[in-house]
Amino acid sequence: MGSIETAKDGGSTVDTFGEAELITPWTHSVACGMELLRNPRFNKGLAFTEEERRVHFLNGLLPPAVETQELQVKRIMRNIRKLKEPLDKYSAIMDLQVRNERLFYKVLLDNVEELLPIVYTPIEGDACEDYSEIFHNPNGVFISLKEKGRIIDCLKNFPNQNIQAIVVTDGERILGLGDLGCQGMGIPVGKLALYTALGGVRPSVTLPITLDVGTNNQKLLDDEFYIGLRQKRATGKEYDDFVEEFMDAVKQAYGEKILVQFEDFANHNAFRLLAKYTKTHVVFNDDIQGTAAVTLAGILAALPITGGTLADHNFLFFGAGEAGTGIAELIAQELAKQGKLSLDDARKKTWLFDTHGLVTKSRKEDMMEYKHPFAHEHEPVSDLVAAIKKVKPSVIVGTSTVGGAFTKEVLEALCENHETPIVFALSNPVRKAECTAEDCYKYTKGKAIFASGSPFPPVKYEGKEYVNGEANNCYIFPGVAFGCLISGATRCHDEMFLRAAETLASTVTKEDLARKQLYPALPQIRDISAKVAAAVAEVAYEKGVASNLPKPADMLQHVKASMYSPLYRWQKTKKLSH
Ligand code: NAI
Repeated sequence: MGSIETAKDGGSTVDTFGEAELITPWTHSVACGMELLRNPRFNKGLAFTEEERRVHFLNGLLPPAVETQELQVKRIMRNIRKLKEPLDKYSAIMDLQVRNERLFYKVLLDNVEELLPIVYTPIEGDACEDYSEIFHNPNGVFISLKEKGRIIDCLKNFPNQNIQAIVVTDGERILGLGDLGCQGMGIPVGKLALYTALGGVRPSVTLPITLDVGTNNQKLLDDEFYIGLRQKRATGKEYDDFVEEFMDAVKQAYGEKILVQFEDFANHNAFRLLAKYTKTHVVFNDDIQGTAAVTLAGILAALPITGGTLADHNFLFFGAGEAGTGIAELIAQELAKQGKLSLDDARKKTWLFDTHGLVTKSRKEDMMEYKHPFAHEHEPVSDLVAAIKKVKPSVIVGTSTVGGAFTKEVLEALCENHETPIVFALSNPVRKAECTAEDCYKYTKGKAIFASGSPFPPVKYEGKEYVNGEANNCYIFPGVAFGCLISGATRCHDEMFLRAAETLASTVTKEDLARKQLYPALPQIRDISAKVAAAVAEVAYEKGVASNLPKPADMLQHVKASMYSPLYRWQKTKKLSH
């Protein structure tokens, strides 16, 4: 007994392949028996009740115990905690996703603090590095250059066709780990798991995609187990045409409002693609805009400790890539929005420092265009400590991937001009962080406020305990995505990220700030995502890009009521007539 067919030949597509005609025999079926147990969307494992087992032809296929979902969660966590290696934990939890989807999300939501570092950064990065080795279950859609001219067919082959949100990568700049080619798929899969667990987006409307345009990572090209295309990366027109075909195909397959999140594209493509497709599609780039919003939120949250307003601060970014320039631009937009400065003057409060030193006007000819707004008049400075002494930042943000770059000298220089400087060491994973929480408090003598991209344990300094705020994009992107979907946004607007940042900052309590903790505790994250989604949806209606009309009277209540619940459905079954 596999499935009960309810409508044979419910639709067929005819394809020509050489001389022969291929007919795709579409059928609608109701899963039961073993097929039901193997269907992750509907499987409940030992939680199937006796009545459900009887009517769904499951008797004999399961041992007699009937468990609650809570007990199943307990069992899974017990097994995961027994595993020593983080990568084994990653594999165990991701296997659950393809066995029992609701249980996967329930486990994730109930244990968000413990499991987030596994399914998301930093362990997700390790998983991508070993993806070919641990690969045994395809998840999402892999579109390689071989599919050029037929991308739409790849999308049609995916079982769910009511897709509303895509996270796509080309694997060229995975976290701080560089070009991982096709192995980058771990990132869209992880991000979309958080769309659902944290943002409340239904999993059936999400789709992770990897565009495999080759890799320049020789180690992967030489690895017999590498699962991707074995060629150097396509560039120039070939690359652009391929991406364009993909962007056309997603609209053709899923409609005008399909949301596309660009993820971990190298910065020579990331800024271009975002600028190009912002005009025609609902797109955002989490590395640029999500990071910007979460960092801006941390700075806004810190203002009660530092005193003054955002306009009283000066900013220095060590590392001028997607994250650094994205944050710099959003800060400038927030300053301009507050009305005290023009956008140009707001940008002048921000300095970038890259591999060649301070970004100045004299270097403009030789730098990427996205740095131009922050190339100010200044003599060349090639040393970070010297740059700090010159531009006197009150906020320093590390987005360089250079572990340990914020040395004792750097942190001491920072304190020369400011009583309470803010230090963000955002580079991931932990080994790439510009400084640790402990070093930051030690070298600034407890003066600084510290936040980082990777988790650090609390630090005790001179009798006081400081809790590290994790500037984790997952406070932002799931809510932004859900806000776009629930309002039926036809474009993603910069103002959405400003409002998301302000909303996140408003959730930080006095108690959090007493511990210099710039972000709320992770277990509250679903509630925070709901607030972010409601704020983003409000912007969509204000800006006239919302298509789900009329606007709900109580947006937050509407968002909360619409969020996906991982609890099992059909607790009470109806008797089937077969
Ligand atoms: P990216 O590759 O676009 O930028 C890195 C920049 O650092 C480049 O401009 C590079 O020239 C510069 N750089 C490298 N070595 C340097 C040196 N010795 N001195 C000065 N600059 C140097 O990468 P992206 O996307 O900006 O990410 C940077 C880091 O931030 C990564 O480790 C990433 O994992 C992390 N990140 C953290 C987030 C968070 O905590 N929420 C979010 C996004 C990124």
